[in-house]
Amino acid sequence: MNYHLTSFGCQMNDHDAERMRGLLESLGYRESRIRDDADLILFNTCTIRGSADERFLGNLGEARRIKRENPDVVVAVGGCWAQSQKELVFTQFPFVDIAFGPGEITRLGELIARERIEAVGAFSFDGAFSGTLPAKRERPHHAWVQISVGCNCVCSYCIVPAVRGRERSRHPQELVDEVAALAGDGVREVTLLGQNVNSYGRDLPRGERMTFAELLRAVGSVPGIWRVRYTSPHPKDMREDVIAAMAETPTLCEHVHLPAQSGSTAVLKRMRRTYSRERYIDLLARIRDGIEDVSVTTDLIVGFPGETDEEFADTLSLVREARYDGAFTFVYSERPGTEAAAAMQDDIPPALKSERIQALVDTVHEVSRARARRFVDAEHEVLVEGPSRNDPDRLRGRLRQNITVNFSGDAVPGSLAMVRITGASSATLTGEQVGVRVPA
Ligand code: 5AD
Ligand code: SF4
Repeated sequence: MNYHLTSFGCQMNDHDAERMRGLLESLGYRESRIRDDADLILFNTCTIRGSADERFLGNLGEARRIKRENPDVVVAVGGCWAQSQKELVFTQFPFVDIAFGPGEITRLGELIARERIEAVGAFSFDGAFSGTLPAKRERPHHAWVQISVGCNCVCSYCIVPAVRGRERSRHPQELVDEVAALAGDGVREVTLLGQNVNSYGRDLPRGERMTFAELLRAVGSVPGIWRVRYTSPHPKDMREDVIAAMAETPTLCEHVHLPAQSGSTAVLKRMRRTYSRERYIDLLARIRDGIEDVSVTTDLIVGFPGETDEEFADTLSLVREARYDGAFTFVYSERPGTEAAAAMQDDIPPALKSERIQALVDTVHEVSRARARRFVDAEHEVLVEGPSRNDPDRLRGRLRQNITVNFSGDAVPGSLAMVRITGASSATLTGEQVGVRVPA
C-alpha cells in the first residue's frame, strides 16, 4: 500500500507530518511521491490564514478527481482545517473518507481500519500528543519535540485557540527521556515546539511541573545533544530566567524567534497581545544584553483592521529599531470564529495591504542583509545537514544563529564543521570549511 502526504502550515504541522509518516510506515505503508499512485491520499491541513485554506482546497479538488477515477482510494484530511470544519466536512466534501483533528493523529491507524466500514471523523481537544509516535524525520540529525499543544492566549486575529483548544503540557520527564532517546538515535539538534513555550508546565500538577527555563536547562544537558532551539515564545511571558538559561547553557543556541505582530501599541492593543511597543523593545534589549551575538527573528502582520498609515509606519520603524535577522511577514486575513472577525471590520483595501506587505518585505530584507554581514570574514560553527540544495557538490548547514550556510568542504552530515564565511545575502551565507569541531 502506498500513501501520499501533503502538509501545509506551521512547524507544529511539520512535526505532526513526520509522525504521520512514521505511523503509516510502521503499518507497512510506503510513501509515494506521486499522488496519482497512492492508495491513501492524506492531507495535513492548516487554517491560520485564508490563503492556506485556498491552497488546500485546490489540492483537495485534485484528490476528488483521483477518487472518481479509482473509488478504492482513501482520502483522509487531518489537522486544523479539518478541526475547524468538523460539522461540514463530510457533507461539503462527500468523497472524504476520514477527517480528524490535530489531537487524533495517534488514532490514524484505527481510523484507517474503521474507514473500510464507514466514513469516520475524530475530533477533540484532549487527544494524545503526536509527540509520542515514532517519526520519519525530514532532517535526520534534527528533531522537533512537541512540549505542549493548544494556546490560552486570546490574540484577536488568531484561530489557533479555537481549533487546538486550551494549552496542555507534556510531562517534563517524558520530554527529557524522549530527547535522550533521540540522541541515541543520532539526533544532534532539537527544536522544542509549542504555541507559547513560555507558559509550558503551568497546567501540570504542582510537584511534577518544571518551568520552561528549567526544561531548557534539562534538555540542554542531555548527552549527545549539541544544539537546542525553541519556538515560539510570547513576549508577554518571556522572563529573565529563560534569558539566563540561554546565556548559561552552552547547547542553547543564540537565536530567539520573538513574534511582535505589530510595531504600534494601539494595534497591539486591538490584537490583544497585552504588551506595548516599549515593553517589547525593552525585552529585546534585555535579551541582547544577556545573550552574546543573539539573532532575533519575528512574525509581523500588516493590514490589521483599522491599521492607519502611522500605525503601519510604526511596524516599519520597529523592524529597523529591533534589527531583525529575519521575519515572517503576513497580510491580515479574517478568520471566522475569531474575535477580530466578529467585532472588527476587515477594512484595509487589498491594494493597500499589498503595498504595505511589499514595503515591509523590502525593509526586512534591507535590515537582515546588513545584519548578516557581521558573520563575513570570520569562522563559525556549522551543523552540517547535507548537500546544498542548488549545488550538490557543496554542503549546507546552519549557524547556531539559525542562518543557513552553503559551503565547500567534506564534513559529514550530522557533524560540526568550522566554516569561514565569505559572503552574505539576506537569507543565506556562503563559505569554505576550514576545520571540524569536536563537541565537548
Ligand atoms: N492573518 C494573518 N496572519 C496571521 N497569523 C495568525 N493569524 C493570522 C491572521 N488571521 C500569523 C501570526 C502568527 C503566525 C503563525 O501567523 O503572525 O504569529
Ligand atoms: Fe495564536 Fe496568539 Fe496563541 Fe500565537 S499566542 S497561537 S498568535 S492566540
